[in-house]
Amino acid sequence: MESGKQLTGTLTLAVFSAVLGSLQFGYSLGVINAPQKVIEQHYGRSLGVLPEEPLLLSENSTETEKQEVHPSVVMYWSLSVSIFSIGGMVSSFLVGFIGDLRGRVKGMLMVNVLAVIAGLLMVMAKMWKPHVMVIAGRCVMGFYCGLSSGLVPMYIGEIAPMAYRGALGTLHQLATVTGILLSQVLGLEFLLGNDYYWPLLLGLSGAPAVLQSLLLPLCPESPRYLYIKRGMVEEAKKSMYCRNLSSLLENTLPVRSLDTPTHSRVRSSLYRQQLFVALMMHFSQQLSGINAIFYYSTAIFEKAGVTQPVYATIGVGVLNTVFTMVSVALVDRAGRRTLTLIGLGGMCICAVSMTVGLVYLSVYSWMSYVSMSAIFLFVCFFEIGPGPIPWFIVAELFSQGPRPAALALAGCTNWTSNFIIGMTFPYIEALCGSYVFILFAVLLFGFTVFTYLRVPETKGKTFEEIAAVFKKGRKQTPGTRKTGTGTGTGTSTELEQLKTD
Ligand code: GLC
Repeated sequence: MESGKQLTGTLTLAVFSAVLGSLQFGYSLGVINAPQKVIEQHYGRSLGVLPEEPLLLSENSTETEKQEVHPSVVMYWSLSVSIFSIGGMVSSFLVGFIGDLRGRVKGMLMVNVLAVIAGLLMVMAKMWKPHVMVIAGRCVMGFYCGLSSGLVPMYIGEIAPMAYRGALGTLHQLATVTGILLSQVLGLEFLLGNDYYWPLLLGLSGAPAVLQSLLLPLCPESPRYLYIKRGMVEEAKKSMYCRNLSSLLENTLPVRSLDTPTHSRVRSSLYRQQLFVALMMHFSQQLSGINAIFYYSTAIFEKAGVTQPVYATIGVGVLNTVFTMVSVALVDRAGRRTLTLIGLGGMCICAVSMTVGLVYLSVYSWMSYVSMSAIFLFVCFFEIGPGPIPWFIVAELFSQGPRPAALALAGCTNWTSNFIIGMTFPYIEALCGSYVFILFAVLLFGFTVFTYLRVPETKGKTFEEIAAVFKKGRKQTPGTRKTGTGTGTGTSTELEQLKTD
């Protein structure tokens, strides 16, 4: 790759292959919503609490019909949904270990076995007890997604040329939201979200792993991993952007054999600042309430007076994808900090508007338009910055040594807070009623202030210059910090940092 500035065919292939893992993550996030009622009937029959003939329940079923679902079916269904996040919470902690074991590419390749097993378990769900098969499949799939949602940003962050690091990093989120949209569309009743095809709908979540397994062997390993972690000079040179790497190689030679810091060492004072920013950005992504919209959008739309909530949910999926594309185009020009600030601030205003709309809906019927527009805009602002940026900024905030462990801690934070919101939102909503989004507005305001005060701009800086921001400028305002031009490959700061590992 010439001077690390061009998008070559190899780089495109590498990024495309990697983000197939993100597509799978998004598909698995979204797939469980639409076919809920048909799958519950299968659970009921296999548990012996429903007659063998399918009940004709549909989207329009009355509350009484919905409430008739047997408690054991409700329990197994909730488990089918939440076991995915539990799998992700556990495995995200292993991202550093898997990434360093045989390399980023082999790591992604190895974990695909899990995705294929999960897909097969779900495709064959009708052959045995559907509730056991689906729960097992979702658990393994969650375990896979916890690993891939860390390995993909790690690999892309390490192979991307600096000028495109933001745009290429955002492709992880673009593939995720495309996966969500795909699952929403395929989940429509007249496609796969019906009594006959639902196992295929769920099982398809394993399909991208097959394609990825065919493509990954053609992709180069991260040169940073090869050289800094393994000391494989020749292999690293053969890998991407050799020119930039040659100076990196010379400068890092004395320290390349140092061990990767463990999780506890990443938490040490040396990295505390970076880690605080990284974890707060993942908290802000999840505690913004975005998944309250994604998991419960149909119910929220119903409450806001929308007559066709399923199609409104697909509308959210489309906007979600379009605005992630906007972010891909903007992130390397406007910068991570600016887009995160605009996104969080905008979401805060939308959360307030949503509340006003819901509270006054009984007084003015046109308030349903206010709530609906607020929900749509909430999602748009999320995808501009707070959605994609936390996933790739962690790889930017940390230099080579601590990066895998930092990604593991950040991933674990993300999955845990996602799980907490998913589990508690219905209860918080029951407690706060129409005022539920005020809670998110307050949190969003806090995260906006935090971003303004503590998050530095990483656009156009080498990893070493970013690390230097945290070492030097602790007392300065992030927006006004002086940094390098971002055109060099100087690795002295990274060297210093690696030496103290
Ligand atoms: C991000 C979040 C995920 C959310 C998705 C929505 O990837 O990590 O939890 O569902 O965005 O687009």
